[in-house]
Amino acid sequence: MERYSVFGVVTVLAILSLIGVFFSGWFLIPYILFSLLMILGVRDLVQPRHSILRNYPIIGHMRFLFEGIRPEIRQYLIESDQDEEPFSRDERSLIYQRAKGVEDKRPFGTKQRVYDSGFQWLTHSVNPHHIEDHDFRVRVGGRDCRQPYDLSIYNISAMSFGALSANAILALNTGAKKGGFAHDTGEGGISRYHRQGGGDLIYQVGSGYYGCRTDDGRFDPEKFREQAANPQVKMIELKLSQGAKPGHGGVLPASKISEEIAEARGVPMGVDCVSPPSHPEFSTPIGLCQFIGKLRDLSEGKPVGIKLCIGHRREFMCIVKAMLETDIVPDFIIIDGKEGGTGAAPVEFADRLGMPLVEGLTFAHNTLRGVGLRDRLKIGASGKMVSAFDIARILALGADWANSARGFMFSIGCIQAQACHTNHCPVGVATQDKMRQRALNVTNKSERVYRFHKNTLKALAEMTGAAGLDHPCDFLPHHLMMREKDRDMVTGEEVYPYLPEGFLLRNEEVGFGYLKRWTRARAESFAPVDYIP
Ligand SMILES: Cc1cc2nc3c(=O)[nH]c(=O)nc-3n(C[C@H](O)[C@H](O)[C@H](O)COP(=O)(O)O)c2cc1C
Repeated sequence: MERYSVFGVVTVLAILSLIGVFFSGWFLIPYILFSLLMILGVRDLVQPRHSILRNYPIIGHMRFLFEGIRPEIRQYLIESDQDEEPFSRDERSLIYQRAKGVEDKRPFGTKQRVYDSGFQWLTHSVNPHHIEDHDFRVRVGGRDCRQPYDLSIYNISAMSFGALSANAILALNTGAKKGGFAHDTGEGGISRYHRQGGGDLIYQVGSGYYGCRTDDGRFDPEKFREQAANPQVKMIELKLSQGAKPGHGGVLPASKISEEIAEARGVPMGVDCVSPPSHPEFSTPIGLCQFIGKLRDLSEGKPVGIKLCIGHRREFMCIVKAMLETDIVPDFIIIDGKEGGTGAAPVEFADRLGMPLVEGLTFAHNTLRGVGLRDRLKIGASGKMVSAFDIARILALGADWANSARGFMFSIGCIQAQACHTNHCPVGVATQDKMRQRALNVTNKSERVYRFHKNTLKALAEMTGAAGLDHPCDFLPHHLMMREKDRDMVTGEEVYPYLPEGFLLRNEEVGFGYLKRWTRARAESFAPVDYIP
């Protein structure tokens, strides 16, 4: 409770100096000073807007003081820790502005270094369009889906209750409800706070089968049927991996398992909650497709999909071969980039395992085009999707929608303290400490979730119209321009082309190593055909 210590000391000093006033008028000065500070502290504790002040009354103002100092110290601060942070100060301030509903205009032009290699931009038209309605949606649900869902093209990516606090889940879900977009549960099951918010849910089924598991951790079809029947549940997402820790399971220590978490996950209290690195229910590509078919039947035909970060590209091709062989095609695939976030992951996993989003997406998109299955499903993309440009770029490269986890964490007050794994989140977002999460005012923050989404899509509509297009999904690789190492500029089409439909079925060599991997992939096993055990 040391974070309340300054407030506590000030209060005691105010009382002591008040007593002192009866002995000497000089005590009036400290009494006035400490009383003013005490009043400030009380105001900090009850005001809804700034979570950091609710958790650090009085001392929390130091943060704003340092943030406010310009330009010298700020420049030093920027240069000193800019590259330490997953999201730059500019990226975060754009999110905060949109969440607060502050106009995201800048005077004097761009700060981007437009002649640096790697700089990217979108091409605009001399004949721009004005797009009034920016509630952009895609219909998710393939041939075998009986309950297709009109999904917003920007949604809250998976973050489990457990990794996030109850107030965070409630604020996210309430904001999603108001904005009509979806909220992915993450692998921690559907909690009472997801239900309370009433917003559309994507129910994620991870290797721990939380909310639909037997006592020994296997999949329980009846419990799943019950969960999936909830009208809030619009889609089912089978998690194979996430970019920040691919191939790595998770453990929620017994000490963090509250009664609410145990309820949501369907696990006992007092025992560590282990998510194994792989699914016990299937071990082959065909087994995976059959499990997708089972989930679709048990959910009365709701859209069922998979989420993964591309690892061995051949293994993704094994899954696609199994789709062809079983004719069981998921309704959607979410490609997560290695740059994605997590509540906690081993450093080397976070840094060195998994494919970045752009490469993973274009590979999956083109493999599905190569076998003529691309039009039978939708592709979602996640991994640092926090601005309209991020979304437009990823749609141009083959995705149908984008999800964001940390973007929405910033909208509910995350300050990137990177303390998610300590339970000491300073703003009550990633903690199970009841006192700490009190800092997150649900009414105030759910409005920010709603506004961040709305204003990001508004900016996307403006960029889409400026390009002379009518819908963000009209963006194509040739609309994206990039500056290469030799400062030459290239189009997205030259670097990330859409490969010809059916090229894999025709065994057509198109380069990029597709055909070689396709011939080594097989539907009945993830091991390569020429694998010698
Ligand atoms: C706090 C936190 C918890 C997460 N929990 C899950 C999870 O339970 N299941 C999952 O598939 N991904 C999880 N992720 C990954 C995100 O859903 C997403 O794929 C990734 O963070 C990329 O998005 P971002 O860059 O927008 O954060 C989590 C991410 C964060 C930051």
